Order: sequence, then structure tokens, then C-alpha cells
Amino acid sequence: MKSYIIKTFGCQMNEHDSEILAGMLEAKGYRSTEDTGKADLVLLNTCCIRATAENKVFSYLGRLKSQKLSNPAMIIGVCGCMPQQEGMAAKLRQLFPYVDLIFGTHNVQQLPIFIDRILAERKPVLEILAEPDEIVEGLPAARKEGLRAWVTIMHGCNNYCTYCIVPYVRGRERSREPDDIVKEMAGLARDGFKEVVLLGQNVNSYGKDLKNPLDFAGLLEKLDGASGIERIRYMTSHPRDFNEELIRTIARLGKVCEHFHLPVQSGSSRILEKMHRGYNREHYLSLVEKIRRHIPEATITTDIMVGFPGEDDGDFRATMDLVREVRFDSSYTFVYNARPGTPAAGMTEQVPDEIKKQRIQDLIKLQNTISMEKNEEEEGSQQEVLVEGESNIGPGLLYGKSRGNKTVVFAGDKTLTGSTAHVTITRAHLAYLEGLLIKQ
Ligand code: SAH
Ligand code: SF4
Ligand code: F3S
Repeated sequence: MKSYIIKTFGCQMNEHDSEILAGMLEAKGYRSTEDTGKADLVLLNTCCIRATAENKVFSYLGRLKSQKLSNPAMIIGVCGCMPQQEGMAAKLRQLFPYVDLIFGTHNVQQLPIFIDRILAERKPVLEILAEPDEIVEGLPAARKEGLRAWVTIMHGCNNYCTYCIVPYVRGRERSREPDDIVKEMAGLARDGFKEVVLLGQNVNSYGKDLKNPLDFAGLLEKLDGASGIERIRYMTSHPRDFNEELIRTIARLGKVCEHFHLPVQSGSSRILEKMHRGYNREHYLSLVEKIRRHIPEATITTDIMVGFPGEDDGDFRATMDLVREVRFDSSYTFVYNARPGTPAAGMTEQVPDEIKKQRIQDLIKLQNTISMEKNEEEEGSQQEVLVEGESNIGPGLLYGKSRGNKTVVFAGDKTLTGSTAHVTITRAHLAYLEGLLIKQ
């Protein structure tokens, strides 16, 4: 029996593509292994959102060289976002001539054919499609066991934020047919999954390209009826298209969780405009106000970037002030990194590294203080926790997520795994909440 390793870099969308790549390999008789030394296929599903993501791939490929020498039959493949960039496939071939297979984000479904070709012809395959084709339905996915399943609702992104590489490597927006999504969810419920996370780079754009238009609120409405699935989450929504009607829909639907991940990127309207985000500080703050008015218990998280070209002390202060004003439950913080081919990479006024470093440190410090305070505010509250299993924090402890997406740890029997437990929060930590199971 042949064996494979898939190493995934990047976002949930890539993680889910890897589940599909794995599904196709398993359908071909391959089995997953941990042992690079013995694997018949090592596939790197790559990310290029920042240089750090690419550097990880370069060093992983460098380390594979000696293994390829001792096991020349091993197929090494590189796929995903990185080779989809102009000129990158050629660069990879030149730097790592022992790579056998390179393909992009638009021809994932061809992996089995590529492998057959390499085995028959014994020569490298390099195939990148410049444009996406129709969405291919029905590909098998080898999902990791658990309660939570990722479901892609749309591919690509049309936003072209000036710093971002994603639209260039993932193509234009394409929405899946609602019926295909419903069907997939029914299958997931049959397989025992309790929670789905709907994936798209900007889920608010869902449906704009469908023959029979249905918007994201309409899709949520349709999916909320799915029997067997208890929770619905989504990633990522864009503040520009998020509106009060969608907030009301989310407030009304029982399965859609009260967690809003709304990447703000910057608190300065001037920088937001240069980023081409399509909203300003006031719009963002008014959205937060509406969320809190309709759903007082909602958790709000975000992505923030520091050091975008031209960001001065005043712009950064505006970001810090916005963080203080909104009081995010948590945030993912990033240092701006110029991506070749994006408009921002060519902007003058790139911010020096020392300033970026100082700003990210200040921002993380502030966010940690606020995250801790927000967690403390939950002490004494009751939370519905979908129990995922035994916690590695200590013996006899279980863990799961609250509807607001916070990790909750409490003492209980492991037979509770997969069920919803009611837990009183007794103590806040920065990264999780501690609680006591309420006996039913
Ligand atoms: N589609 C999502 C984001 C996907 S990328 C959205 O629009 O919110 C995830 C995060 O990476 C972004 O929110 C942004 O904060 C960060 N990011 C994207 N490009 C970057 C770059 N060039 N340098 C640093 N961070 C970047
Ligand atoms: Fe990138 Fe902007 Fe699209 Fe998000 S919305 S993927 S940040 S271009
Ligand atoms: Fe990275 Fe591609 Fe996702 S660039 S963040 S893996 S869409």
C-alpha cells in the first residue's frame, strides 16, 4: 500500500483543500503516514500571504533533499497558493530540481492524474491554470475526525485590497450552488459532525454570481434548518458588506453562533482608503454598535495589520484607539509585508522594520490586556459548550468551545464528548475560560 504526507501552510481554505487532496489520494489507495523517510508522496500545500509563510516552504523543501536522495522513488509535490504566483513555479523548479510535481489552486482535482503521469513517464509535471474553471463538485474529502467540519461556500476574492495576494492566487469569486452546500451538510450530519464552518475569503459576497441569486443571509437561513448540525460558523466576513439585515438574521437563527470575526485591518480611515477596504472607521464602529445592540452577548474578533505604507504615528494611534473603543475579545495581529505584484508593494513610504516591530508589540500588549478583561467579564456567566474531548491542561478535564468561540475547560466525564454541556464560568485565563459543569 502506498503512503502520503500532506503538509499544509496557510488558512482554513488551504486546510480544507488538503482534506480534498487527501480524500482523492485515499480513493486511489494511498494511506496517510507521519514518516517522511518512507512516504511515497510528500505534498506541500502552500501559502504566500506573507514572506514568512513562503520561507517555511522553502526550508521544508530544502530539508527534503537528503530524503529524496536516499529514497528517489518518493514523489515530492508543491501545490496551493505559492506556485500560482507569476514566476514562482519556475523559481521552485530552479531552486529545488528534485520536486516532481507542481500545480496550483485551480487544478486540485487533477492530482490523481498527475500522479499516474509521473509514475508512467518518470518525469516531472508542472501544470498551473491561469484562470479557474467551473467549480468541481463531489470530490471526496478526508476530514480529520471531530465535531467541526469546514465547508467551502465560495472560492476566490474580487476585493483586491492593495496589500493582498489572495485575489491573484485564488481567482475571481465563484459561489457554490446552495443545493450542493445543503447536500454536503446533510452528509456531514450523517457522519456525526455537529458544527460546520462556512468558508470563503469574503462570505458576504456569497451568491452574487449565482443564476438564481441568494445572498449570504438567505444561505444562512436555508442552512439553519439542516437537521443534525447544531452550530454554524463562517469565515471570513468583510465589514464593507456586513449590514444590519444580516445581523438581524444571525440574531434570529438558532444555529448560527454569536461570534463575529470582522477584520478591521486599521483604525485610520486614511489608511483604510489606501488599503482599498471600502469602509472607514465610522462605518466599522457603527457596525460594532449594531451588533452589540442586536446581540449583547456577541463576541467580536478581528485581524489588524500594522506598518502599511504611509502609516504614521497618528494612524497607528487611531488603530490603538479603535481597539480600546471596540474592546475586541481577541485579534490576529500582523506586520505588513510587501507582496510582489500588489499595488501596496510599489507604494513609497514603506515603514521601517523597527517601527513596525514597536507597533506590533504595543498592539499585542494592549489586546492581551483587553482579552483578559473580556474573559473576566464572562466569570459567573453560563455558557453552552460543545464538548470536543479531553483537555491536555490536566487529568479529568474536558474542553470545548462556547458559542462565542472561546475555549472552555471543565471537569467532566469523557462520555460527554460530542454533546452540548452547560457550564458556569468560574475563572478567566488569557487563552481559555475555566468552568463548572451544571448538572442537568
Ligand atoms: N479574506 C480575509 C483575510 C484573508 S488573509 C479578509 O479579507 O479579512 C488574513 C489576514 O492576513 C488579513 O486579514 C490581513 O490582516 C493579513 N494580511 C493579508 N495580506 C497581508 C500582507 N501583505 N502583510 C501582512 N498581513 C497580511
Ligand atoms: Fe485579501 Fe482583501 Fe480579499 Fe481578504 S478581502 S482575501 S484581505 S483581497
Ligand atoms: Fe495563504 Fe492562500 Fe490562504 S495565500 S492565507 S493559503 S488563500
